[in-house]
Amino acid sequence: MSGVLPDLPPATALPPGCEPQELARLAEDVAREAGRLVHGGRPDQVEVASTKSSPTDVVTEMDRAAERLVRERLAAARPGDGVLGEEAGVESGTSALTWVVDPIDGTVNYLYGLPEFAVSVAVVLGDPTTPGAWAPVAGSVHAPALDRTWTAATGLGARFDGRPLPARREPPELAGALLGTGFGYRVDRRTGQARVLAQVLPLVRDVRRIGSAAIDLCMVADGRLDAYYERGLNPWDIAAAALVAQEAGIRVVGLRGAPPGPDMLVAAPDPLCADLAHRLDELGAVDLP
Ligand code: IPD
Ligand code: CA
Repeated sequence: MSGVLPDLPPATALPPGCEPQELARLAEDVAREAGRLVHGGRPDQVEVASTKSSPTDVVTEMDRAAERLVRERLAAARPGDGVLGEEAGVESGTSALTWVVDPIDGTVNYLYGLPEFAVSVAVVLGDPTTPGAWAPVAGSVHAPALDRTWTAATGLGARFDGRPLPARREPPELAGALLGTGFGYRVDRRTGQARVLAQVLPLVRDVRRIGSAAIDLCMVADGRLDAYYERGLNPWDIAAAALVAQEAGIRVVGLRGAPPGPDMLVAAPDPLCADLAHRLDELGAVDLP
């Protein structure tokens, strides 16, 4: 099997007095508070504040406001930790921990008034800007318009709306799998992703493009999707949700021995994960722009 989400370094790497369970509680509290701001404060007409990698890769004022709120709350609760946020970048800390924040994952859904968007707050050991050099300790994905929250702490399992995740059914074969995926914002990348997807679609039950990588991964964890893959993901898209999935017994892998990250992330229970990863490798899904 190709590379998986790296194991957490020894617990001794955690700053003294740091309990993954406590960090998970903080992640969830902060994600819920930011979720109230994002959902409750959504204007009828959401304006695009600026664009990033392409004209369709948008940022709203609410992305920025929610990230400011999360940073303020984390700085007050854990002043020594670093923070990496999608909108404001990296702020180094003095502890071994860095918080990894997507204030709105699913910004295009938010723009259009679709409910599949989430606040994602995770805390990791290592350097979250380098694929494979970090491991999540705790995290929470809160989707305020769906009123759903997934939270996990390493080694302690994942919870959905405060309860253990429901038991999963046996994974189907690839031909019976409901598969989630997503696309980057750049035209050259999308063209390649469309070519791969055209060859994957006939192999599976059906495909969903939900529009939030964090929600996709959490839905694999709770069984609403059987599998998910995407190229081009950033650490803030996956830090919390990949831990939720992994703690729910889902394999979260990259291809060709790489850890899951920008090149590729595949998530599903085994043996479905191995089969899907093999097919994606054959289709050259990591050889795209
Ligand atoms: C995006 C969403 C989308 C995925 C993109 C991400 P954003 O994040 O997670 O589902 O397909 O790759 O960039 O821009 O809404 O934070
Ligand atoms: Ca975002």
